[in-house]
Amino acid sequence: MSQPKVSLYYKNVTADRIGPEHGITDTQFDELAAKAAPAIDKVNTDRAAGKTPYRDLPANKDYPAQAKDIAEQLRGKCEIFVVLGIGGSALGNIALQTALNPFMYNLDPAQRKGPQLFVFDNVDPVQFQSFLHWIGDRLDTTYFNVISKSGQTAETAAQFLIVRQMLLEKFGPAGLKEHIIATTDPAAGTMRKITDDEGYRSLVVPDGVGGRFSVLSPVGLLSAAVCGIDVDSLLAGAADMDARVSSTDFRANPAALNAAIQWHYYSRGKNISVMMPYAYALKDLADWYRQLWAESLGKAHDLDGACVAVGPTPVNALGATDQHSQVQLYREGPNDKVFTFLQAATFQRDVQIPAPPQTAPELDYLAQKTMSALLNAEKLATEYALSAKDRRPCLTVLFDAINPHTVGQFIYLYEVTTSIAGALFNINTYDQPAVELGKHATFALMGREGFQDLANQIKSYRALDMNFLV
Ligand code: PA5
Repeated sequence: MSQPKVSLYYKNVTADRIGPEHGITDTQFDELAAKAAPAIDKVNTDRAAGKTPYRDLPANKDYPAQAKDIAEQLRGKCEIFVVLGIGGSALGNIALQTALNPFMYNLDPAQRKGPQLFVFDNVDPVQFQSFLHWIGDRLDTTYFNVISKSGQTAETAAQFLIVRQMLLEKFGPAGLKEHIIATTDPAAGTMRKITDDEGYRSLVVPDGVGGRFSVLSPVGLLSAAVCGIDVDSLLAGAADMDARVSSTDFRANPAALNAAIQWHYYSRGKNISVMMPYAYALKDLADWYRQLWAESLGKAHDLDGACVAVGPTPVNALGATDQHSQVQLYREGPNDKVFTFLQAATFQRDVQIPAPPQTAPELDYLAQKTMSALLNAEKLATEYALSAKDRRPCLTVLFDAINPHTVGQFIYLYEVTTSIAGALFNINTYDQPAVELGKHATFALMGREGFQDLANQIKSYRALDMNFLV
């Protein structure tokens, strides 16, 4: 039986549909194919040279086995599973849960196959203290997955130190070993050292896999396996997509088409890329995409050292909710965006809308229709509204169904789209110097040794200039 697929639908960016001013003509598609060919080659060559190890995660058998093994060890003991991490160490975990576990997962034991899950990717004191207070005497059934490649990221380190102290006070050193699972660098870094010193169970953030490309590694697999998600099917979906996005045939390669279309519009002043899922389950995949796209493609210099300050701005919205918040701007504001809808052809659950009271015949049109039909009609309505007037380009990523296999396909599709887009922009897709600068400035402001010079540079920002306070 063939598996449900994820496909890219691009008719509504063509000149045939939205006209030659904003649409892509056949000649331009041919030019894009020529432009994309070396980018596809580069991405395939980088992979063969071992420069992009994220590409091989779908085929790795050890990582899912290790994640399932720890999940098995926790079964029956763990009622609350807490992920501590930020950025690439958190967003994939959140996206998988929202996509693949029921909306009421945490609240309804009958709807879940694992412990309650919480992901903390911030250092908001009110939020964290409220959670710690709620845990109270549940600590013996609570397990913490600290995810940090470096172990030095201030937010994760702070959360970890608080939790470690709590566990130490309640259970002693044996409690740390039992309740903390670290996902970190295989050999180096602060978290690896603490993990080895204190004897935690651990998994690796594989060498050369950046946070935003790590969801299919132990970074994302552990919480997924613990919470009952079929990680084998997730990876099998990614592996299926691998075959499609490695193709050198431009028109058969959805990642190459997607990247080239985005590059085309960016080069013509449409520098905002909106992703708008029409399925709540896909909402946090759009959030995950936002980080992947922004951190990978927002770069000051190209690979030749030229100052380019390049990067499409990713925006996420949610259909139908944001039709009542953003679509006014999307349709009538500046024509500077390319839209990508995520649409599900089928939904796991559906609800039929009953007939209205006789006093409201104007609602008759809803009677006996399903909510899924309404949601997909709204998607089409928005696509029409955006592309019919002023000809705004719209793509759709169509999920035959939302399940681990298709979510794996989607993740891999967007990871490789990002790599090909990076090659088209001729930038380093895999570094994040601005994120590192922010981390260092935090170290400096918090008095970390070795960051005094930076602290001095920032000094003038510390005191409020009252002349500018109104
Ligand atoms: O994608 C990235 O590289 C970043 O978002 C990192 O994941 C994030 O900064 C956390 O870093 P670390 O895993 O070292 O704590």
